[in-house]
Amino acid sequence: MSAERYLIGTNVVNRLPNIERGSSFSITINGESYLAYPGESVAAVLMVSGIRSFSQKDDGETNNRLFCGMGVCHQCLVTIDGVMNLRACMTEGQPGMKVETESISGDIHS
Ligand code: FES
Repeated sequence: MSAERYLIGTNVVNRLPNIERGSSFSITINGESYLAYPGESVAAVLMVSGIRSFSQKDDGETNNRLFCGMGVCHQCLVTIDGVMNLRACMTEGQPGMKVETESISGDIHS
């Protein structure tokens, strides 16, 4: 199995090669279909798909990005299947899941 390589600006983001991942499936991010594998967090799928801005603060200017990657900072909030403000780093991708990057207002779930 070869690594999947993506160039994001000057950074290359890879899924590690030579790892048995199981059967791929699709999730929808902002209306577009992306490849995901069992066990990957939504944050991992966003990152390897080249999406670095997960949500935007109410000021409309500040973008939130993956920071701690372990559920502490709440910088990775997204809307999943209509539920706002879920932590992408703590949510496992599931087939057919619909993810939207957007605002961070509202209550925190999960
Ligand atoms: S990146 Fe910190 S909670 Fe998700």
